Amino acid sequence: MTAMLQASRIWKSFGDHVVLKGVDLAVERGEVVAVLGPSGSGKSTLLRCLNFLETPDSGSVTLGDERIGVLEKQGTLYESTPVQLAAQRARMGMVFQRFNLFGHMSALDNVTAPLRIVRGMSPSDARQRGEAILTRVGLAEHAQKRPPQLSGGQQQRVAIARAIAMEPEAILFDEPTSALDPELVHEVLDVMADLAREGMTMVVVTHEIGFARHVASRVLFMDDGAIVEEGDARAVLDSPANPRTQAFLAKVR
Ligand SMILES: Nc1ncnc2c1ncn2[C@@H]1O[C@H](COP(=O)(O)OP(=O)(O)OP(=O)(O)O)[C@@H](O)[C@H]1O
Ligand SMILES: [Mg+2]
Repeated sequence: MTAMLQASRIWKSFGDHVVLKGVDLAVERGEVVAVLGPSGSGKSTLLRCLNFLETPDSGSVTLGDERIGVLEKQGTLYESTPVQLAAQRARMGMVFQRFNLFGHMSALDNVTAPLRIVRGMSPSDARQRGEAILTRVGLAEHAQKRPPQLSGGQQQRVAIARAIAMEPEAILFDEPTSALDPELVHEVLDVMADLAREGMTMVVVTHEIGFARHVASRVLFMDDGAIVEEGDARAVLDSPANPRTQAFLAKVR
């Protein structure tokens, strides 16, 4: 079976700094993969290469049966146009550490704007879907508030709602809770755990070992631009084989 999201031999450098060294990643439909690793190991860069927010220097990414960032015409590969790339990116949601919401728009408008603008949905259909999804993430009564009127945990749930609303095939999360006050972390992790239970395909860069243990099916450990260990979440977390994984886990626990 081919994986739903597959990255092969991804290399990426910034200047002469080689940040990703031939990373392979395959994520099955409905799988939740947690990506752990020290700062600077390339986790965010890998995530950003998956949806071509960064263009890999070489390697390929496929989602379903479509190459991301590249079009094949009669055996020749062409770079996707910005419009084509935007359409491909819309198939993968992305949730960032710092929410990236529009501060001047209500929570509801943050969720519905991409539905109207990217999907061409009517305002009333978009509002209906937006309200239903805000309810799902526990924010029904906050729909009309703007991000500055919401807590960090609530803002991150708006960002997750915005991603879900687009009905993506997978959602990529880059440290979604690391900008939050500790007491707000669980409300965001709970929403993510619900999503996982509903079968969403997720790649989650996180330092939340508890989340990785209980929600992820698989853990990848990155160090210095490479995946140095991967496997069943509990197996890797309870008895890591690689000394670098061992050292990292000893520090974050
Ligand atoms: N746009 C960029 N230009 C230059 N260097 C970059 C750029 N993005 C990332 N890097 C460098 O690439 C390396 C990997 O960065 P990346 O953000 O992927 O690490 P990370 O594992 O996500 O770290 P953290 O846990 O701190 O978020 C770092 O040394 C970083 O400074
Ligand atoms: Mg990062």
